[in-house]
Amino acid sequence: MSSLKPTIGVFDSGFGGLTVLRALLPLIPDARYIYLGDTARLPYGSKSHETIARYAVSSAKFLHEQGADLLVIACNTATALAFEDIQRALPIPVIGVVEPGAQAALAAAESTPNQVLVLATTATVQSRAYTQALNALNLEATEKACPLLVPLVEEGWINHPVTDEVLKIYLTEALAQAPATNTLLLGCTHYPLLEPAIRRTLTSMQHPLTIIDAAKATARAVASHLGLPSQSPDLNATGPQCTFYATDSVEKFQFLGSNFLGQAVAKVNLIDLGG
Ligand code: DGL
Repeated sequence: MSSLKPTIGVFDSGFGGLTVLRALLPLIPDARYIYLGDTARLPYGSKSHETIARYAVSSAKFLHEQGADLLVIACNTATALAFEDIQRALPIPVIGVVEPGAQAALAAAESTPNQVLVLATTATVQSRAYTQALNALNLEATEKACPLLVPLVEEGWINHPVTDEVLKIYLTEALAQAPATNTLLLGCTHYPLLEPAIRRTLTSMQHPLTIIDAAKATARAVASHLGLPSQSPDLNATGPQCTFYATDSVEKFQFLGSNFLGQAVAKVNLIDLGG
């Protein structure tokens, strides 16, 4: 890897992974970023292990071919189900979101025993990857599949009564199962956008929780992998360069992606990775 300016490939099933890129940019501004959103094959979260692994490996290979010397799997579902497949397929370091998310939950642990509730897609929950990562750190874990949240966020219903109601149903069910929960891990790229709605809902339920955003934790893990500080940005940085690729509608990517990135998404290149 070039020690001067790393080329960081960031991959997600769609534009949700831009929440990870958003966390990376201020932390590691002196890098080249190549982002791929596999929008044609989204959502991954409702698909089988075999399909997710096939899609994820072809996406990861594309980023390596474009010059990435470090790959960040921003997608929780791809990390949970295909991390090892991707690692085997690529000759470069690979960082996923599950381990950093679990480590951040450990760092936030205030009392013992700690009970972490993970909200994620159906495939992520079925893989039990978060439970294994959290249990390995001696944290208790409960996982809750929230399949309606991705479409609601994609619809832009971030501050919407329907979304608040859906969150209330999911959180009530999950907390009834694990009433001692004190930490909430957002185990899906789309959920950081719902953080205000989640806080609002938890307040109305009188069940405040420490909220962990796996996107920010992953950005800190990437900085630490590169030997950079994980707190303050590099003040001598020349500014990040980002190139965006998507496998479907570039207009939708640009329009919705800006919500996730927190700034306008520049030119998006359309590519075809096959079926
Ligand atoms: N990127 C996925 C994740 O973080 C959510 C969207 C999808 O299901 O593809 O799990």
